[in-house]
Amino acid sequence: MKKVLVLYYSQSGQLKKVMDRIVMPLKHDDEIECDYRAIKPLHPYPYPWLFYNFFNVFPEAVYLDGCDVKPIKVQDEYDLIVLGYTSWFLSPSIPVTGFLQSDQAKRLFKDKPVVTVIACRDMWLVAQEKMKSLLKGLGARLLDNVVLTDQGKSLYTFVTTPRWLLTGKKDAFWFFPQAGISEEEIAAASRFGERLSSALGKDEEKHSASMLNHLGAVNVNGKLIASERIAHRSFLIWSKLIKKAGKPNSQGRNVVITIYAIFLLLLIVTLVPLNMLIRKLIYPFRKKAIDEAVINYELPSGR
Ligand SMILES: Cc1cc2nc3c(=O)[nH]c(=O)nc-3n(C[C@H](O)[C@H](O)[C@H](O)COP(=O)(O)O)c2cc1C
Repeated sequence: MKKVLVLYYSQSGQLKKVMDRIVMPLKHDDEIECDYRAIKPLHPYPYPWLFYNFFNVFPEAVYLDGCDVKPIKVQDEYDLIVLGYTSWFLSPSIPVTGFLQSDQAKRLFKDKPVVTVIACRDMWLVAQEKMKSLLKGLGARLLDNVVLTDQGKSLYTFVTTPRWLLTGKKDAFWFFPQAGISEEEIAAASRFGERLSSALGKDEEKHSASMLNHLGAVNVNGKLIASERIAHRSFLIWSKLIKKAGKPNSQGRNVVITIYAIFLLLLIVTLVPLNMLIRKLIYPFRKKAIDEAVINYELPSGR
């Protein structure tokens, strides 16, 4: 009998729907005991978000200042841990970071094989690098990574995802597609659970090779790599400024957040499309380096 712990933190329930699909085959397997648990912050975050609440978590997310979380009812030992998380400002969400910094996580993750599952807009590369270092700090072994991203082109989701997070509205409007991950893609996530169930039957979690390769677990868009790296560098600078301006929700912090939000909006309507165009133009000359970076970011599961 194999024991699997599945953990996640989801606000709207989208990531939970993805995890439900992955968990289903594990629950149906008589040889697997699957504990499926939500990570719960001590002080819940709002959803939908108010504008200032949303940006107030920005510096803490970027600098991995996790929040306090409630202890989770679990067993002492598991054969495999599946950890579902969303990306907040190019970082693991604060509740997931908080959990990974807890004493409970230190005990649970030590020497354990881990599969991460990300459901986000489409910027998760830096978040997963941060996740890798958190897991390494816990002594865990990352075996696989599954990533599902919002439907529609990046330029559209710059509008549809924030609209959804700030209003709760996911419907398609004007020429914009529905917000979030497509229902078909969520349904198809069951293939990862099916493969995990057969891999556990063959003790594959005890080895270091990926269990989920050739399933389309990850698909990195090479043209977005540079944008994400540049964005993260600017996030580090602005987070520092916002933190210096005052405690969360203080007047000082909200003033700097207002300036930052205007700056960000101007950036999104000017430099982001320009940067995308430049990246498209120089892509043929940088193809080799970008292709190598894509392969690296798609590890350990690959396409
Ligand atoms: C505060 C905040 C920051 C976010 N930042 C990012 C981001 O940097 N990259 C990204 O792809 N998605 C980002 N998202 C979207 C989430 O990753 C996720 O898709 C969305 O919150 C829905 O997840 P849920 O299952 O928790 O409802 C952000 C969401 C929130 C709430």
